[in-house]
Amino acid sequence: MEQLEIFTKSDKETKKLGELLAKEIMKSFGGAQDKLKTATVLSLEGDLGAGKTTFTQGFGKFLGIKERIQSPTFTIMKIYHLHNFIHVDAYRLKSKDFKVFGWREFIKNKNNIILVEWGDKIKNILPKNSLRIIFKHRKNSNERIIIMRV
Ligand SMILES: Nc1ncnc2c1ncn2[C@@H]1O[C@H](COP(=O)(O)OP(=O)(O)O)[C@@H](O)[C@H]1O
Ligand SMILES: [Mg+2]
Repeated sequence: MEQLEIFTKSDKETKKLGELLAKEIMKSFGGAQDKLKTATVLSLEGDLGAGKTTFTQGFGKFLGIKERIQSPTFTIMKIYHLHNFIHVDAYRLKSKDFKVFGWREFIKNKNNIILVEWGDKIKNILPKNSLRIIFKHRKNSNERIIIMRV
């Protein structure tokens, strides 16, 4: 397992990290990404307020999404047709809940880029090669430790 730890000191820095990662991922689209067997899936993990949505906002900004990205806590899933970008919040869900809306088809489409907040709750239905991004924070602090694992 490879692991990378990044520290951020503000929401701005966490957004920037999202942007940078989106840039890296988009570089492989149309090239190396063609060899993938599944969608590109990022599992965003960590407590409420740790920065999962903030990171996703930066990611979406790089993709060119103009609308404000919010946690899809109630809608569960939001599909942005620009770049097949899909934002999921699994907070209230279990793996079996995903059977009802054709999740397998979303995962199979290698053009899809799927960011799953609380991905650890549904890890058995995420592709094995998903990138895990773990957000850690302390109360009343703007510092975040963001750990990426492949
Ligand atoms: N370094 C940081 N990275 C991300 N968010 C931060 C940071 N410092 C402060 N914040 C604040 O913490 C909150 C993170 O919320 P959010 O991204 O919605 O978390 P989550 O989706 O994990 O519940 C936001 O209000 C954001 O402004
Ligand atoms: Mg959130």
